[in-house]
Amino acid sequence: MRSVEISQGLVRLIDQRQIPAREEVLECTTVEQVADAIRSLAVRGAPAIGVSAAGGLALAAYNLRHLPEAEFWAKLEAAAALLRSTRPTAVNLFWAIKKVMDYAAQLKGNSPGEVAHGLLAYAQDLAEQDVTVNKAIAAFGATLIRDGDGVLTHCNTGSLATVDYGTALGIIRYAHEQGKKLHCYVDETRPVLQGARLTAWECLKFGIPATLISDNMAAHMMKLGKIQAVFVGADRITANGDTANKIGTYNVAIIAKEHGIPFYVAAPTSTVDLSLAHGDQIEIEERNPQEVTHVFGTQVAPAGIQVANPAFDVTPHKYITGIVTEKGIAYPPFDVNLKRFVEGG
Ligand code: MRU
Repeated sequence: MRSVEISQGLVRLIDQRQIPAREEVLECTTVEQVADAIRSLAVRGAPAIGVSAAGGLALAAYNLRHLPEAEFWAKLEAAAALLRSTRPTAVNLFWAIKKVMDYAAQLKGNSPGEVAHGLLAYAQDLAEQDVTVNKAIAAFGATLIRDGDGVLTHCNTGSLATVDYGTALGIIRYAHEQGKKLHCYVDETRPVLQGARLTAWECLKFGIPATLISDNMAAHMMKLGKIQAVFVGADRITANGDTANKIGTYNVAIIAKEHGIPFYVAAPTSTVDLSLAHGDQIEIEERNPQEVTHVFGTQVAPAGIQVANPAFDVTPHKYITGIVTEKGIAYPPFDVNLKRFVEGG
């Protein structure tokens, strides 16, 4: 199944917390359950979060459809606010909620039942678009991979992080499906291990030759000449190309530059936030210290130690060789070329 499936009165999510041990589906019948799933990382990855929120709003409208109009609209707004409060950094969440609520506003004057019907179709369409967009990103990005290349990726940007196929990992998968001989180095991605748990699982599932490394091995692999390009995803890209992505991405960008290795970001244009001029303006989510002090429930650090747990860092645009979008590959200057893709339709 796809990572996110939206139907009448139901949002089905692959529960990413259980992978690779179990493949379980989380069935959400209320917007509160969808919000919990986003907050607890049952569904994660910027595009998957956005589409899940759209599905959550369609679900809220469905559950509210028998209410009088004024109450219906007030509670739908409250559902949007609840979803907005789940995670702060990935702009796709806010993008998708705005798209759905703008569309809902166009439906005002119709009965709540008709609005609910319209929002279901709209959310399903956003899910379909995500897959189309990912395949376009993959096709553009695969031109950057040569036969025999070693590529490094960080976090999980595959079919799980999106509705299907993926962004940065989608590029690697597409090049592999084209028959290019490549080898994917997968950063484990502490503290939540999206690389070790999810990307490694996807590489095995899709037959992509891959080696899992711990995050602190990446520079060594580059020095050994095993890596010819880096592909990562994004949670928010500002107008100048600065990119917020999973914590540790900035380290990878710096070591790639030191070794003369191209560093590519892959993301849909819905991840670009032109309202922010530069990356220092991005809100970085701080998560539970237990993600650092504990590994799968086992305490690995002494009780009482102070812990920092920023979930994302910002890679300054000067480290980024190109940004692969569904409209093409943007090269510096990003403030001109990325904007053209976002605004150019
Ligand atoms: O905290 P997460 O797991 O939601 O963070 C996800 C990432 O940083 C991904 O690399 C990014 O969202 C791109 S997803 C295609």
